[in-house]
Amino acid sequence: MKRIGVLTSGGDAPGMNATIRAVVRAALKNEMSVVGFKRGYNGVLMTSKEQTDDFTMMTSRSVSDKIHRGGTFLMTARCLEFKERPYQEKAISNLKLLGVEGLVCIGGDGTFHGANALKQLGYPVIGVPGTIDNDLAYTESTIGFDTALNTAIECVNKIRETSDSHERASIITVMGRNCGDIAIHTALACGAEVVIIPEKPWTVEELADQVRWGVMKGKRSMIMVFAEGAIHSLKSDVAAICKKHDSLSDISVDHLTSSQIARIIETLSGHETRATVLGYTQRGGSPTAADRILASRLGAYASTLLRDDISGVAVGVRGGSLITEPIEEAMNGRGTANEELLALIDELS
Ligand code: F6P
Repeated sequence: MKRIGVLTSGGDAPGMNATIRAVVRAALKNEMSVVGFKRGYNGVLMTSKEQTDDFTMMTSRSVSDKIHRGGTFLMTARCLEFKERPYQEKAISNLKLLGVEGLVCIGGDGTFHGANALKQLGYPVIGVPGTIDNDLAYTESTIGFDTALNTAIECVNKIRETSDSHERASIITVMGRNCGDIAIHTALACGAEVVIIPEKPWTVEELADQVRWGVMKGKRSMIMVFAEGAIHSLKSDVAAICKKHDSLSDISVDHLTSSQIARIIETLSGHETRATVLGYTQRGGSPTAADRILASRLGAYASTLLRDDISGVAVGVRGGSLITEPIEEAMNGRGTANEELLALIDELS
């Protein structure tokens, strides 16, 4: 191949800039030129008024001063139209018009679905796992996960201090969509008493019992790390609980927030409980060394695979070694949680 393209799609992740840098620098070193497409697959569809708003020719200087910056300078966006075949065919026609012979797609499972659609139409693609969720089973780690984890750890440490001062319980919500990896690793690294994840059923009664247990054991604070997707594995009859307690009568069981869960725990346990949602702080920040190194390895690997006319795969890491997985297999989520770490959280709390 003599010209490739690169894009970032889906939720942004720290390390995406480092990945783009590696794709570009490795391609240029292999005498390939690179087109950077903006706003994910939207850039490939070229719907902007000005072409420069859709793509840009990348040079070595384009990726200077980027390795340490969070976010993605090519920007990202979800592209719902790309689920439809006419748009996928239009994208391939545009890529060929620009002489782009292969496309590196950096993102999560949604991005891989788009890349697989191009593969099924015979267009060469490489998927690079860029998402904080760490929810792609084929690779040990996704780019951005380590940075998001360290951001969450820093926040939980601060919340532990104020919870100690006030002798409170705290429920802290982290991202991860339907995967509990950020929550599990944060909980273990912070010595949290409890972790609540989408992969396991839970009840608010159990959480209240855990808080009461902690108070009885003389703990000054209890930290409960809550994966946002765990709301879907709640097994309590919240309506019945709220009916029994006047102080909970205003709670809407349909859209339960972590603040409302904290109120329920406080009512059932009799112990002050507060809620914090870490939200988008986990998506920003300068990538950690681990993410910069992972991004550099996977980005360069993607370019060299296309150089050698190898495509239709996602790149990843397993046992420290670089691996590839057919893109249609790489979209599969983890599905199960790390039982060893879950047991350790419980054993050490
Ligand atoms: O997939 C990454 C992620 O941050 C998830 O953890 C989160 O649920 C989702 O994106 C939020 O999506 P958006 O940025 O579109 O609100």
